[in-house]
Amino acid sequence: MAIVGRIAVLNTGARIPLIGLGTAAVNQNEKDIKVAVTAALQVGYKHFDTARLYGSEHALGKALNSAFQNRLVSREDVFVTTKLKNTEHDDPVAAIKDSLMNLQQEYVDLFLIHWPIKLRTEIPLTPIKEEDFLPLDIRSTWQGMEQCMEMGLTKAIGVSNFSSKKVEDLMKYAKIPPAVDQVEMHPHWQQKKLRDYCNKHNIHVSAWSPLGSPNTPWGSNRVIDNPLIQEIAQKHGKTRAQVMLRWGLEQGVSVLPKSYNAGRISENFQVFDWSLTPDDHDKISKLEQRKIQQGEQFVNSTTSPYKTVEELWDGEI
Ligand SMILES: NC(=O)c1ccc[n+]([C@@H]2O[C@H](COP(=O)([O-])OP(=O)(O)OC[C@H]3O[C@@H](n4cnc5c(N)ncnc54)[C@H](OP(=O)(O)O)[C@@H]3O)[C@@H](O)[C@H]2O)c1
Repeated sequence: MAIVGRIAVLNTGARIPLIGLGTAAVNQNEKDIKVAVTAALQVGYKHFDTARLYGSEHALGKALNSAFQNRLVSREDVFVTTKLKNTEHDDPVAAIKDSLMNLQQEYVDLFLIHWPIKLRTEIPLTPIKEEDFLPLDIRSTWQGMEQCMEMGLTKAIGVSNFSSKKVEDLMKYAKIPPAVDQVEMHPHWQQKKLRDYCNKHNIHVSAWSPLGSPNTPWGSNRVIDNPLIQEIAQKHGKTRAQVMLRWGLEQGVSVLPKSYNAGRISENFQVFDWSLTPDDHDKISKLEQRKIQQGEQFVNSTTSPYKTVEELWDGEI
């Protein structure tokens, strides 16, 4: 898959900017999102990641529309991703229409199945009850995703949190192959197997939690606080976040750091005009591998399609 400067080319021919602003936050607030989106556009971000689950679609759309009106950027120049909620597998077309209404846009650039999980109800950051799991039929969900693309509601479709085994299964019946798999990826969870599979099949990988989600209830500070990352940052005169993001880019993936702080938004974009050394890569490749978000909330021994975390990830954990 072609990586050209600051973009990669998807299997649809569309260009995906390699740095995207993440928008998952515990407390979403329209003003914070507007400040973040404006700051991001000013320093050069062209890619914005949201999801129906995050509660950021409306404010993101509003901030983008105001930037379009002020001619800061045009719609064709930005790449917007949103995701199908776990409770919406029955009707992706209705779900994306709701997203587009929230975003106040005519189309998104990428629509992803958020998780290979189907639920009756879901409230972010609260435990999922046994009775909330529903039988999963990814094939029929994917047909709905394909319909979204055929109707012009999204320019590309893809998956998120799919193991290479799940992508391979999907490829057997997909009329439209997934353009992207968006997964947790950072120096402590490098996703080598999945990336090898996706590279071979022209599927772009996007890294969520590229900083390990420090200071969030779902993440950990152990990636950003790793002494090796600190040592490499010092050597290059860069920050630890910049080292992790540059590492992701040099693996050929796009990275989606979330920040609502103008200084950190700018810092996270200063990763294009320098590089890591082969020795840095060698050392980072030897770091202990431990996934932060294992998805325990999606596993149970009675009603979930996955009895264990190993089953959820098809042993790729
Ligand atoms: N597909 C999925 O299932 C999935 C799951 C999780 C996330 N995502 C997407 O991926 C995005 C990124 O993941 P994430 O938000 O979990 O984690 P992340 O981007 O790895 O980390 C975000 C955290 O890092 C802080 N931060 C940002 N830049 C920093 C810097 N330069 N130095 C120090 N701290 C910094 C942020 O705080 P401040 O805001 O205060 O800067 C925030 O607490 C999400 O926002 C979302 O769009 C997708």
